[in-house]
Amino acid sequence: MRTTVGIVGGGPAGLLLARLLHRAGIDSVVLESRDRTYVERRQRAGILEQGTADVLRAAGAGARMDREGLRHDGIELRFERRRHRIDFPALTGGRAVTVYAQTEVCKDLIALQLAEGGPLLFEAEALDIDAERARVRFRHGGVESVLECEYVVGCDGSWGVARRTVPAGVSRVFERGYPFAWLGVLADVPPSHDELVYARHARGFALLSMRSPAVSRLYLQVPEGTDAEDWADDAIWTELERRFATDDGWRLARGTITQKSVTPMRSFVQEPMRHQRLFLAGDAAHIVPPTGAKGLNLAVGDVVTFARALVSERETGSPALLNSYSADCLRRVWQAERFSYDMTTLLHRAPDATAFEDRLQVARLERIGSSRAAATDLAEGYTGFPW
Ligand code: PHB
Repeated sequence: MRTTVGIVGGGPAGLLLARLLHRAGIDSVVLESRDRTYVERRQRAGILEQGTADVLRAAGAGARMDREGLRHDGIELRFERRRHRIDFPALTGGRAVTVYAQTEVCKDLIALQLAEGGPLLFEAEALDIDAERARVRFRHGGVESVLECEYVVGCDGSWGVARRTVPAGVSRVFERGYPFAWLGVLADVPPSHDELVYARHARGFALLSMRSPAVSRLYLQVPEGTDAEDWADDAIWTELERRFATDDGWRLARGTITQKSVTPMRSFVQEPMRHQRLFLAGDAAHIVPPTGAKGLNLAVGDVVTFARALVSERETGSPALLNSYSADCLRRVWQAERFSYDMTTLLHRAPDATAFEDRLQVARLERIGSSRAAATDLAEGYTGFPW
């Protein structure tokens, strides 16, 4: 089997890359180790920066997002039983975000790829990658084959084979763990607020998000290693109520919890993002903690950068943009790492936090609440850094 670009991993990064290449007349093959249902149900943050929504539209994949996605002009920060709204358009010259779940982005891209694009193989497990010769050995339907490519792009996440293909002597990993995790629930209840609410509380962080006007997505900071089954539904609602409580009578509506899971938190970057003819994109190269919802947006930035670089090589004969792929992506990646780290440490309570650190956290939040400059910094980060 031969193609121009072998794409390992059919999550949002791999699927969007296949779409961008298809629109540019460049053929590709996508190998995804899981089945279609798994990819379409995997819950991840669903906040699209304006640049991400624009890319999906330009790729002809924005129709349902424009119908069903919710434009959000701000978020609420909640601390000390008070509420403070961050107004994105007012602070950023008109920018906003779109709430449209990652599951829906994947469904739209899969449908387009199967209808119009090149091969997308589910349950096709990449076994190893030859980065020098751009070959991927994989198993599909019990048969082993080799995919011969000009370039391979690893979009297979931080546990995938692509990242591990880069020899340790060549790459460097920058990593930080956090001593807490998120317990996330999906609930059949209209969201209790029309924008996302990020709450800092002495008992820990809580987040109110949504999947649609009828479905809420809620999170609680829990200790690292927590088992979701240890939390009864009632206990979850009671704890959410405590952490979101305000002095102005705001109420959290309860509903049936339909899904429960725990997300670990870490920050991670592997440099460089290219080795020979293998390029890393999305979670294969970097992980952010979910506070601030940057993961999908970073993956989109990577694959747009790769697609542009390859198109430029085809058109001009110059590999300059392919050669600067890693450096070009990493500038943006580190800005998102910084933003996600700041949001995480601003809002979570570390188990060993001192009273001094507690007061500093509230002071940081009050600064954002009272200074246009501080609020602008948050709004620019949240709505996205330019590609
Ligand atoms: C989500 O809707 O799942 C979500 C939203 C914002 C975040 C993280 C997760 O910062």
